Amino acid sequence: MHWTAEEKHYITSMWDKINVAEIGGESLARLLIVYPWTQKFFSDFGNLTSSSAIMHNVKIQEHGKKVLNSFGSAVKNMDHIKETFADLSKLHCDTLHVDPENFKLLGSILIIVLAIHFGKECTPTWQAAWQKLVSAVAHALTLHYH
Ligand code: HEM
Repeated sequence: MHWTAEEKHYITSMWDKINVAEIGGESLARLLIVYPWTQKFFSDFGNLTSSSAIMHNVKIQEHGKKVLNSFGSAVKNMDHIKETFADLSKLHCDTLHVDPENFKLLGSILIIVLAIHFGKECTPTWQAAWQKLVSAVAHALTLHYH
């Protein structure tokens, strides 16, 4: 995948400002609320009975932080995203059986959460760069599926 200097700038400069716990936690919580079928993967994470319960669920918050931290490895290895996510692709396919469509959904939610937090900074060209990144991560996570 080729990245222009402008795309790299939009991605890395915002990444440095992101509070990973806050943005990651909110993104995963919103995924479970907006697309409720994704809750089945987290049935042992405690109370998921309302949107408020999900937003305040400590395990969801912690896992969202873990997921976004791993997203950060894509930011740090933008030219090697496929290799970076090879093991996670195997895990989500072989062990967790997550439908890869859900990776795209989480990527879209992440962009919405960033837009909520960073507002006017999220210009169309910013969005194009971030959409390219979340698509690349979703694609890399799908590669081990067969
Ligand atoms: C676990 C990353 C999307 C479901 C994990 C782990 C990471 C991760 C780093 C922890 C692996 C470990 O402990 O070794 C990502 C990334 C995603 C993504 C970067 C980007 C799109 C999803 C989606 C779902 C999902 C969309 C389901 C809808 C799970 C589950 C676990 C997990 C159920 C195991 C949780 C546990 O019991 O601890 N993921 N994930 N992931 N992921 Fe994902």
